[in-house]
Amino acid sequence: MRGWIERTVRTDVQARTAYAVADPGTAIRLNQMENPFGWPADLWRACMESLSGAEINRYPDAAGRELIAAIRAHDDLDDAWGVMLGNGSDEIIQPLIQAICDGARPVMAPAPSFVMFEVIAGQCRVPYVGVDLNRDFSLDADGLIAAMQRHNPALLFLAQPNNPTGNLYDEADLRRVIEACPGLVIIDEAYGPFSSRNHQSWLGQYPNLLVMRTFSKMGLAGLRCGYLVGDVAWIEQINKVRLPYNLGVLNQAVARFALTEGRAVLAQQSAALRVGRDQLFDALSARGLRVHPSEANFMLLEVDQPSAVNASIAAQGVLIKDLSKAHPMLARCLRVSIGTDAENAAFLAALDVALKAQR
Ligand SMILES: Cc1ncc(COP(=O)(O)O)c(C=O)c1O
Repeated sequence: MRGWIERTVRTDVQARTAYAVADPGTAIRLNQMENPFGWPADLWRACMESLSGAEINRYPDAAGRELIAAIRAHDDLDDAWGVMLGNGSDEIIQPLIQAICDGARPVMAPAPSFVMFEVIAGQCRVPYVGVDLNRDFSLDADGLIAAMQRHNPALLFLAQPNNPTGNLYDEADLRRVIEACPGLVIIDEAYGPFSSRNHQSWLGQYPNLLVMRTFSKMGLAGLRCGYLVGDVAWIEQINKVRLPYNLGVLNQAVARFALTEGRAVLAQQSAALRVGRDQLFDALSARGLRVHPSEANFMLLEVDQPSAVNASIAAQGVLIKDLSKAHPMLARCLRVSIGTDAENAAFLAALDVALKAQR
């Protein structure tokens, strides 16, 4: 068997490690930027009732018409813009790269940024170039523009707010970069529900811009529902390489219900997370720690021995993310998602114990 695998599986795939997520058990999960709140019982009941009779014997609507109509209403998107659905926005990165990149011109993104841009480019055998942010995590627009002139990217991903840094880039820098990009630019607004800026109105201003969104962070991570918005002519091309039926009947139906009947609850939950974020920022700053202001539902904090601190916090039953090995600029960084008030308090208590043990 081993010989067969070595002879037949692509060598670059053999060299990869699968995306692994450890079983969280009963730990408090502040490591994946999830919304920690469930739904009220009456909303769940109404959702279940709405699913009765769902035609799971049939293939789903491949075009996702009803869900897209709900997305348009939710985001106030008029029919001039095309929308393509993905099984999470993760999944959309792949058809984007497949449709745009021929393998010669690279995918580019600032660094550090969302890891899946690089991972999926690698899986598609497309070169990837990351261009470092400035030390304060602002966009090095001149550096990125110079790198784009050198590398001629086919695709540029700009996560706004950025993961893992949590910030928005200066608007004028962002505009300069989009204008200078010789390829297609994707603004990834995964953390849009927590951000003070969105870029929907920019779509009409740049012929090479699309916006990617997801409902994961605002409370539907388990549904896997992301989408790409932009000129219908762009969406038409990228849609050609999307797998048909990528969102199941139940996913589409629950997402549609959530965006309509559940809309107010989801909006309240995002608002509560924004408040929790500001409180957590203050609590961490009050401990004398360097904390990076965030427009997302997570934040970065700096500590002296991040891996040891992370291990201690995990041993106390709270999962956060140690990013100290992810990029040299993150050498002191831990990322914590915003949880419920009780979860945030548990995290702070565990952090205090971990920091005390260091002294
Ligand atoms: C910037 C960014 N984009 C996209 C995603 C993917 O989200 P999903 O696949 O859940 O829609 C994430 C997830 O963490 C992210 O941080």
